Amino acid sequence: MNSVKTLHDLDLNGKKVFVRADLNVPLNEAQEITDAHRVRSFLPTLRLILEKGGIPVIASHLGRPGGKRDEAFSLRPVAAFLREEVIPGNAKQVTLAPDCIGAETEKIIQEATYGDIVLLENLRWHSGETDNDESFAADLSRHMEVYVNDAFGTAHRGHASVVGVPKQITERAPGLLMQRELDSFQKAFVEPERPLAVVIGGAKISSKLGVLLSLCEKADKIIIGGAMANTFLAAQGFQMGRSLYEPQLFQTAIEIIGKIARRGAQLYLPVDVVVAPSLKSQGLARNTTVQEVPADCMALDIGPASRILFQEALQNAATIVWNGPMGAFESEEFAEGTESMVESIGNAHGLTVVGGGDTDAAIHKLELAHKFDYISTGGGAFLALFEGKTLPALEALGIHL
Ligand code: 3PG
Repeated sequence: MNSVKTLHDLDLNGKKVFVRADLNVPLNEAQEITDAHRVRSFLPTLRLILEKGGIPVIASHLGRPGGKRDEAFSLRPVAAFLREEVIPGNAKQVTLAPDCIGAETEKIIQEATYGDIVLLENLRWHSGETDNDESFAADLSRHMEVYVNDAFGTAHRGHASVVGVPKQITERAPGLLMQRELDSFQKAFVEPERPLAVVIGGAKISSKLGVLLSLCEKADKIIIGGAMANTFLAAQGFQMGRSLYEPQLFQTAIEIIGKIARRGAQLYLPVDVVVAPSLKSQGLARNTTVQEVPADCMALDIGPASRILFQEALQNAATIVWNGPMGAFESEEFAEGTESMVESIGNAHGLTVVGGGDTDAAIHKLELAHKFDYISTGGGAFLALFEGKTLPALEALGIHL
């Protein structure tokens, strides 16, 4: 990675600091945060800005409100979380501005003094955010003296707050979370200790094709689970019954298998699966080998022999990267494969780096987050980085990996 100014290098004393964070947290029907990992991960940056005398003006999106004001996507729960659980004694107050731009919001920003924290309302209430509109970026930048981007989860989006605002503010740096994300990527993938094992799961090859292609050039062991494995199995002639798979990608799957073999790397696919007539079939789940999937059933999880196989394969890995569940883990009957993967990787000796919302949810459900070296706050951004894409946020900060 090239060297750029860090947050530690910047003079923030008395300055208004525009901080792009990714506070896009899941909410339940009562508008309560169900997983605060992203907000907690952002706190070291917030605290450092306060310690350095800066006045943080925090900007984030929440959900996809489609460019119009919608209270269901308000950052109110995040403001309450900051006030109640995190900030007491650390700052005078957290003010949630009524919008991210406009006269009333500008007045709040102008009047904020040292110790205040301003949280702007949802950036995506304005289409100017996702359209990367120049005048929207100018409105966001008004009164701001420093730009900090800590929103790793949004680093793959070329949006106004990610690329437009840093064009207008010359004093800029990545936040501490962004830095940690990039450091862990560097350790796990750019200069990994080998053997490097990558575990990849989820429903479709098509949504992770770029990542798979990049992995097969780099990893020493590639373990594939989830419905994605069905396509690899079906492409090799296994009858997968009513399982979800992508026939249009059979050729690609065969090419990937060939590439891995030519490099002398190892590919691990499930040898058995948990099947049922459908995802909703209560009590009808059973184990079968991949050779014997019944025609009227679908594979919904990896089976017990595959769990052991995958665990064995991870034993000697010096670095493990994981993205994507091993099955339909939201349903108890098909959760064992993903849960055993959480335990296998959690107990592994190598460096462990995990990314993606579903994977993160499975780890938090088992309360085993402390057993992982790094859990990324990124879903799409994590995959884009592993795919080798140039992320707009990094370009805007002048960071080259
Ligand atoms: C995420 O949750 O992955 C990020 O916050 C980006 O959200 P988006 O996919 O709606 O751009």
